[in-house]
Amino acid sequence: MRLVNRHVIITGGSSGIGLATARQLVIRGASVSLIARNRAGLAEAAELLRPLARKHGQRVEIATADVTRQSDIQQAIGDLINRSGPCDVLITSAGASHPGYFEHLDDAIFREMMEVNYFGTLYAIRAVVPQMIARRLGAVVAISSVAGLIGVFGYTAYAPAKFAVRGLMESLRQEMKPYNITLSIAYPPDTDTPQLAYERQFKPQEATRISGTIKPISAEQMARSIVRGIIKRRFAITADTQSAMLVRLSGVVAPVLNHMFDRSVRQVRREREISEGHSLSS
Ligand SMILES: NC(=O)c1ccc[n+]([C@@H]2O[C@H](COP(=O)([O-])OP(=O)(O)OC[C@H]3O[C@@H](n4cnc5c(N)ncnc54)[C@H](OP(=O)(O)O)[C@@H]3O)[C@@H](O)[C@H]2O)c1
Repeated sequence: MRLVNRHVIITGGSSGIGLATARQLVIRGASVSLIARNRAGLAEAAELLRPLARKHGQRVEIATADVTRQSDIQQAIGDLINRSGPCDVLITSAGASHPGYFEHLDDAIFREMMEVNYFGTLYAIRAVVPQMIARRLGAVVAISSVAGLIGVFGYTAYAPAKFAVRGLMESLRQEMKPYNITLSIAYPPDTDTPQLAYERQFKPQEATRISGTIKPISAEQMARSIVRGIIKRRFAITADTQSAMLVRLSGVVAPVLNHMFDRSVRQVRREREISEGHSLSS
């Protein structure tokens, strides 16, 4: 898909992967509309993008909405379409992660993860699809996670929501194809953003060991892959070799990875038993 003068709406566009993607899109000539809850964060992001948007006279618009409230997100998307024209591309990047030991996580966290990551994605997509069908034109990119491809220790609340996003996109892709609407799903690995910094404070030691020495990628690297994915109409979007392998071979490599993950968990628990002087299984 050509990006010059396209209108791209990005939920979670004020920070991290969403903001980096907005920047790449503006550089390539698209108009962007950013949605998030915090107005100050949105205004700051728009200030960063507007000087880059002069080349093709593009628009940079913002709207506040909580993606977990369907009427809010519908209204915000409606307002942005009135200001900048029909939505050619939707990117659903609004999301949150809260890891922790299953038995320590509050019930509310499980619901919250589903509300923001899954329903937040679903509501935004439902707000743009009727117009895309009528125009026989559009692209939708949902941001899942590597944790939407394989379950990881400590992510019992987050991973199911990202798996759900994958189920939605795989099913919807088939329904949208006859209308010339392209669907994509991005699987970021650990990416250096405020979300990663936030989740680190809750991440169990075992999960840290499983991530090992893998260095987070930059939000810009992920953003460039997302933009390339839109241009080339790719369904699965990845930014590094490990995630690409996981997408291609997930059924085959999952048992191998699970074996490695279990070994890391055993190591951490043995070390904790030695340092704490008691068995963790009793
Ligand atoms: N960073 C990683 O390592 C990583 C890895 C895999 C997948 N991901 C996924 O990538 C996406 C982007 O994450 P990021 O790391 O870029 O996070 P980030 O820097 O924390 O940005 C999150 C964005 O979402 C918005 N947001 C959060 N909750 C919202 C809500 N209820 N309604 C509307 N907007 C909301 C935030 O703005 P407000 O707070 O102002 O609303 C912000 O603009 C997420 O879906 C995340 O799960 C991230």
